[in-house]
Amino acid sequence: MRERILVTSALPYANGPLHVGHIAGAYLPADTYVRYNRLAGADIVYVGGTDEHGTAIEIKALKDGVTPKELVDFYYEDMKTDFKNLGISYDNFSRTSLPVHHKTSQDFFLKILKNGHIERKTVTQAFCPKCNMFLADRYVEGTCPACSAPDQKGNQCEVCGKVLEPIELVNPKCITCSTTPEVKETFQWFIRLSDFQDELEVWMKSNKHWRPNVVNFCLNWIKEGLQDRAITRDLQWGIKVPLEEGKDKVLYVWFEAVIGYVSSTKEWAERMGKPDAWKDYWLDGKIVHFIGKDNIPFHAIMWPAFLLGYGEYEGRKWKLPYDVPANEYLNIGGKKTSTSRNWAIWLGDFLKDFPPDYLRYYLTTVAPESRDSDFLWEDFQKRINDELNDIIGNFVHRSITFAYNNFDGKIPSLDKSLLDDDDKEAIKNMEEIGTKVSDLIKVFKMKDALKEVVSFAKSCNRYFDKKEPWKLVKTDKAKAANTIYISLELAKTLSMVLNPFLPFSTEKMLKEIGISKFVWDDSAKLLLEQGKSLGKPEPIFSKVPDEEIKRQVQKLDNPAPMKKTLVKKEEKPMIPFDEFAKLDIRTGKIISVDDHPKADKLYVMKIDVGEERTIVAGIKSYYKKEELIGKKIVAICNLEPATIRGVKSEAMLLAADDGKLVSLLEADKEMKTGAKIR
Ligand code: 2FM
Ligand code: ZN
Repeated sequence: MRERILVTSALPYANGPLHVGHIAGAYLPADTYVRYNRLAGADIVYVGGTDEHGTAIEIKALKDGVTPKELVDFYYEDMKTDFKNLGISYDNFSRTSLPVHHKTSQDFFLKILKNGHIERKTVTQAFCPKCNMFLADRYVEGTCPACSAPDQKGNQCEVCGKVLEPIELVNPKCITCSTTPEVKETFQWFIRLSDFQDELEVWMKSNKHWRPNVVNFCLNWIKEGLQDRAITRDLQWGIKVPLEEGKDKVLYVWFEAVIGYVSSTKEWAERMGKPDAWKDYWLDGKIVHFIGKDNIPFHAIMWPAFLLGYGEYEGRKWKLPYDVPANEYLNIGGKKTSTSRNWAIWLGDFLKDFPPDYLRYYLTTVAPESRDSDFLWEDFQKRINDELNDIIGNFVHRSITFAYNNFDGKIPSLDKSLLDDDDKEAIKNMEEIGTKVSDLIKVFKMKDALKEVVSFAKSCNRYFDKKEPWKLVKTDKAKAANTIYISLELAKTLSMVLNPFLPFSTEKMLKEIGISKFVWDDSAKLLLEQGKSLGKPEPIFSKVPDEEIKRQVQKLDNPAPMKKTLVKKEEKPMIPFDEFAKLDIRTGKIISVDDHPKADKLYVMKIDVGEERTIVAGIKSYYKKEELIGKKIVAICNLEPATIRGVKSEAMLLAADDGKLVSLLEADKEMKTGAKIR
């Protein structure tokens, strides 16, 4: 029976662009795992989506001057595009603002409530008297009570990972107006996590195959005694609490975001035309959640508690996560990624400069699987040039090129009777590499799996070098044919086992060898059709030059202002009066008008604005020369001069443009030239 697996990647907040740190944590390893499993024949579905509620969204929208809806609409599209361009192969990429998710989350709330694990409690909460609102989560900042790190948000300390309530912060401040919040009474619904304390502990201890950092973190949490947690908030933007007395409250984002995995699977099933199929995975599958380490408590304790609290669904229990492979952080040049300080490598930017597989390759080699790791541009260059290009790309390219040039562009024939020990060893390596790689991928050791592939590629190059087919082809063509046949088989296997890591380039490699479809087990077989034509060999990779790396390092140190800031289309930014006052705007008189020597639509004019200036203006289609001479006009006199088709323009006439007509602004005839306009 095919293994049935559901894979999820953390739902990123739709409040900013993706950066390479995100990718290394929850997306690339998941995609590699999924791609391998698809090839291995598993019944696997990969879902994700954007996390569109909570204070992370509200606050960013406030800062950008847009509505939360405008913000999430923008970043949903932005992220979807970035993921696609990197080859992250979701079966469904959903959004937590969709009705299916609202409904699913409310159903979870009501079921857990009905089962007696949710209760309403009166609480004291941070309240800002100036803003007249309760301050949920990130609306308060202050010092972490556990590790004393300053400037932490009211939901979780970024430094020590402690999950917080806003009123626990030391020296708390309202992030909108910096007022010290008051503490005021309200009510919220709480989930009684202690109801699941024992069951979670036994389950966690049984997760022997999990990464020790995840299990230890959770067991420590459980040992402290699980506390009741509020799962509602006093906010407007979000999923309404489905109870009359909760109509002004929403579900806490961390209560509903994890449920987003179920909603996304439902959406997928609906799209596939088999609306019940989601149940097969959630009630009878292996669930694997790829996340970054800051998300551990939500996925490995609270989410399982919600699933237990729900009880049975149509008589079946929900599956608890089979594994939660959490990754540590990827730093950039030795420093923690900081989106606010723009210390980040943005995925969209990266993909403009390099092919997606370069990032996939590098991020796998530095995957922060068991400890924080570092993205270093020089190291990136070295890995791409020395490994991807010189070892992997080179072997595939030299094998195909040799066949192309010496065997009529066809796959040569294999004479098994002539196989020597080197050939046999090469074939044996080929037969074994698939299993070595899959054994590691199955336990989420992507970095080690890729290392195995690279050492296999090295052995392939050694084989080729040792056989010296360039000599052999002159002395013993049958043996040379064997070498090249085997080399092509090795190149095919190399491409296949690399495919989950580098889907774009391996597709090209396999196409050159004449393979469009394959399954994982094919990597262990001699399957090339002798005499079949090969595709024209093209180098698959190219080296990253030093200048490019210098440019990237410079860009990182002096980042351009963030490009993807969301500005409402209909709104122009307001300019402070001081800025306007800098403009030197004066009345003037047109003295002479000539045709521009090099442009049909331009005049070159002399104007008197207190002194004489030359200007170039695109008004030839609207004014005859004689209409212009003597006209009193208005001009900006302190713009940087611009050379337009070889003529320097030293001022700019002001004119109105309604799309059809252009009309110069004029001053009264009696007005002196050079009068200041203010
Ligand atoms: O940390 C984050 O970016 C969260 N948006 C992750 C949510 S994962 C899951 F719960 F959806
Ligand atoms: Zn305030």
